[in-house]
Amino acid sequence: ASLPQLDSAAADRSDEETGGDVIDWDNLGFGLTPTDYMYVMRCAPDQDGGVFSRGELARYGNIELSPSSGVINYGQGLFEGLKAYRAPTNDCSRKGSYMLFRPEENALRMQHGAERMCMPSPSVEQFVHAVKQTVLANRRWVPPQGKGALYIRPLLIGSGPILGLAPAPEYTFLIYAAPVGTYFKEGLSPINLLVEDEIHRAMPGGTGGVKTITNYAPVLKPQMDAKSKGFSDVLYLDAVHRRYIEEASSCNLFIVKGGVVATPATVGTILPGITRKSIIELARDRGYQVEERLVSIDDLIDADEVFCTGTAVVVAPVSTVTHQGQRYEFRTGQDTLSQALYTTLTSIQMGLAEDKKGWTVAI
Ligand code: COI
Repeated sequence: ASLPQLDSAAADRSDEETGGDVIDWDNLGFGLTPTDYMYVMRCAPDQDGGVFSRGELARYGNIELSPSSGVINYGQGLFEGLKAYRAPTNDCSRKGSYMLFRPEENALRMQHGAERMCMPSPSVEQFVHAVKQTVLANRRWVPPQGKGALYIRPLLIGSGPILGLAPAPEYTFLIYAAPVGTYFKEGLSPINLLVEDEIHRAMPGGTGGVKTITNYAPVLKPQMDAKSKGFSDVLYLDAVHRRYIEEASSCNLFIVKGGVVATPATVGTILPGITRKSIIELARDRGYQVEERLVSIDDLIDADEVFCTGTAVVVAPVSTVTHQGQRYEFRTGQDTLSQALYTTLTSIQMGLAEDKKGWTVAI
């Protein structure tokens, strides 16, 4: 893959202008706003023993790929997602101006996925360094406090050409970023989910537990069908019994009943979300019993409260779930666990609350 070179004049400009000159911070959704730079690092296992080296920033732009690259032909690719927030006392120049949330967890998840997809992966240090570089190079695009975050999208793709089914001969690790607000068009308002009976997101022994790009295109059809009927997202059932909840197209799911919180166990068909993992800990800190187990559709229907978690989604309260034509309603609003967890989590992420767990990384 050949890439645009670093444009140092643009780097200077990046310091001076703010993205606010061209963007309406008050109406950020989850659309793609192109930013200034991306980070690129390559590895050709036959030549460098599967070790990535010499990463660099390049001007954000199209990349050139062979028509026979592994990612295009056989879907050999992974992605990650994390966010950078502007710190409260941000003066745009000193260290500590931006906050990342558990970036090493994304690095480890990428390594785990790369193993499953027969790809070499960057070290945790390389990954976190690359994320920091990407944020700093695009700092004018980090939204003001309270308006959103810079969403960072690391990719790991088989960029080398291959015809027979086999791992690609070359890999590209690339990070780009875009300013985002809320994921769902509902904003912070509760969402409505539709349970999908026919199409499954993952199966035992498959790749549901890793963040491969191939997990996402297959859910577009049920997602688009559900959206056309006014739902926010789809909730998938397990492919074997068709009775246990797995996750939504873009996020994990939690149910609350009394003092007990439950979420589907990460048994290989569930994406091990970093927000999911953090929310489990924060709910336990609040005295809730948290169970990672099978969660049946009956458990869900019987719940007091339902919510989704994800990097893009953060914590989204669910007001209704529709299954086989029946609509079930759940508690939402100020007095809910999901609201409390949302506030606790985002306060840590944005640097508004003390980070007792050491989850944030200042840049
Ligand atoms: C994220 O939450 O970061 C994701 O990767 C989900 C994606 C569908 C936006």
